[in-house]
Amino acid sequence: MCTVSDPGTLVVLLSGPNLDLLGEREPEVYGRARLADHVARAVEEAALCGLELEHHQSNHEGELVDLVHDARGRAAALIVNAGALTHYSWSLHDALAAFEGVVVELHLSNPAAREPWRHTSVVADVADGSITGFGGLGYGLAVRAVARLLAERAAGAS
Ligand code: DQA
Repeated sequence: MCTVSDPGTLVVLLSGPNLDLLGEREPEVYGRARLADHVARAVEEAALCGLELEHHQSNHEGELVDLVHDARGRAAALIVNAGALTHYSWSLHDALAAFEGVVVELHLSNPAAREPWRHTSVVADVADGSITGFGGLGYGLAVRAVARLLAERAAGAS
């Protein structure tokens, strides 16, 4: 069972560069499922938790920064798979630092088990937690983590 939040609470899922190519791109690393399949899983899980989920994908750093800004004051949580921007985008780091809600970092693969340049995440320290290496399952896990954190915050505030 998922922790149920206030109905209509918004979660924004952001997908970074090259994630639009999932299913075709390096299937031995990222699997055969397409981004739409992962989003569908997240939406399904969100519905079980009484959450609404909105998804955006961009190959452009500035557009992702704008999407984080746009989520401010509107969304209770962000789930972010920033793709390669994870490893060097300080502008995304700073945008996430200015977001007041829950932030979950998400990756299909386990970057820590890959090339050394992927071992650094500049978004990890502005996230409440990271879910990596579980493939598509991670999308459902990320939504559950958000629901749990939101419920804990709501209980703490009451
Ligand atoms: C990724 C991992 C990143 O290192 C890579 O650049 C991606 C995908 C993942 O989901 O495993 O584009 O974020």
